[in-house]
Amino acid sequence: MEGVQFLSTLFVFAVGLFVLFVIILFIADVAQTKNAIRRNYPVVGHFREIFSQLGEFFRQYFFALDREELPFNRAEREWVYRSSSGADNTVAFGSTRNLSDVGTVIFVNCPFPTLDEHGVPPPAVTVGPYARHPYVFTSLINISGMSYGAISKPAVQALSKGAAMAGCWLNTGEGGLSPFHLQGGADIVFQIGTAKYGVRGADGLLDESRLREIAAHEQVRMIELKLSQGAKPGKGGILPAAKVTPEIAAIRGIPSYIDSISPNRHLEIDSVPDLLDAIERIRLIAGKPVGFKCVIGAYGWLERMCEEVQRRGIESAPDFIAVDSGDGGTGAAPLALMDNVGLTIREALPMVVDILHKYGLRDRIKIFASGKLITPAEVAWAYCAGADAVVSARGFMFALGCIQSLKCNKNTCPTGITTHNPRLQRGLDPADKAVRVATFVHKMRNDVGVIAHSCGVPHPRALKRYHCRVVQANGRSVPLNELYPPATPAPAPLSSVA
Ligand SMILES: Cc1cc2nc3c(=O)[nH]c(=O)nc-3n(C[C@H](O)[C@H](O)[C@H](O)COP(=O)(O)O)c2cc1C
Repeated sequence: MEGVQFLSTLFVFAVGLFVLFVIILFIADVAQTKNAIRRNYPVVGHFREIFSQLGEFFRQYFFALDREELPFNRAEREWVYRSSSGADNTVAFGSTRNLSDVGTVIFVNCPFPTLDEHGVPPPAVTVGPYARHPYVFTSLINISGMSYGAISKPAVQALSKGAAMAGCWLNTGEGGLSPFHLQGGADIVFQIGTAKYGVRGADGLLDESRLREIAAHEQVRMIELKLSQGAKPGKGGILPAAKVTPEIAAIRGIPSYIDSISPNRHLEIDSVPDLLDAIERIRLIAGKPVGFKCVIGAYGWLERMCEEVQRRGIESAPDFIAVDSGDGGTGAAPLALMDNVGLTIREALPMVVDILHKYGLRDRIKIFASGKLITPAEVAWAYCAGADAVVSARGFMFALGCIQSLKCNKNTCPTGITTHNPRLQRGLDPADKAVRVATFVHKMRNDVGVIAHSCGVPHPRALKRYHCRVVQANGRSVPLNELYPPATPAPAPLSSVA
């Protein structure tokens, strides 16, 4: 009896507490002036916020169709998950993709496809023939820049080890070179962002001796000057204060727990001649190939750059251009830039290839492409359009276990990839995830090869624009070489080097 009495007292007490809580909430809602819904609909107004947040989760699991979500739909994510776990990723019954959607890519299969035994590995590509240490690579897919800071220590460790296992490169992103990038033994592309983290002098400009030190690491194979990034063209990197831990701050050379905001451009680069001067200077100091990353909007400057290269001599050219898509990913960016500024890779890549071709610089300047190229079809499209290499950031995040919870800017990533909270990082075992990264790369190489063989060529670097058609608004597909006809070459560039 005593137990029942205790429970009923507890119940009455709990109900009393609840009623008190509702009364306090009611008064707080009516008294506040910031939120109209809560002021007009006290207490119940909170449900709107709660349901909006829960909707994000429930839509993904229960309501969104396989091909519906953005930035990546379930079918794309599942392909990466299954590929990186080494699971069988054949599918049954038929395509869930609507093949008449505008922009759908369709490859033209050959009646006599390449036999598997006639397929060959893609040939090596040499970047920076005039640098003291040119870089030779073969990998079809590589890891695009994600700074240590934007992503966590175990994530960087897993990527570094996975890249070494797969034989692809790892770009540091703009947060400097950390010991974790080097740990796995992978080839590294060192990125110099607009704040020059890691090679930053007291004046915010390039510290040559620091650059010399970094470039001296044998693993550092190329240097990438970041002009812009697809998700935020015209805005520098943003690392929220919560993610600027003392260790990250030390690597970047900035104070900890204060927002780390990079300038919108390199302070000393305000024109095409400035850009070529900076590239030449860095190449001389580093002795490694130097190129730049950008998202394309205006493009007249690229033509002026090619003319300037012709004037200065072919060795003055950037060794590569990494073309990022206007719908590229980021740790944090303003929505207006993310949504509405910069061309997507679909338009930008053929445009850049054609401009270089027009000026006879296509062989000299290698082109890397990024922007949602995370499935074999997208990667094969990039090779048809003229890329020398594909790089991906979010493809590798999925390989690490990312569930697209869109929390990269909050330090609360549930998978430990973009958080510095040790409790959340516990779920990310670098050794296990490194294997997934490597398996993803192997599977991608294999499946892009399968598309190439179906088109009748021996490897993906032999894919041409005529191998790929793109569905138009009238429901008909048009070959890529008609959409982007080959440019007429301008006179060959001068060369002061035999
Ligand atoms: C978490 C995160 C951090 C990133 N950090 C950088 C960076 O430091 N420097 C950079 O140039 N790009 C950065 N990016 C952009 C990627 O390198 C890449 O250009 C872009 O996401 C497009 O590739 P994707 O569609 O395969 O992700 C970042 C992207 C993500 C998702």
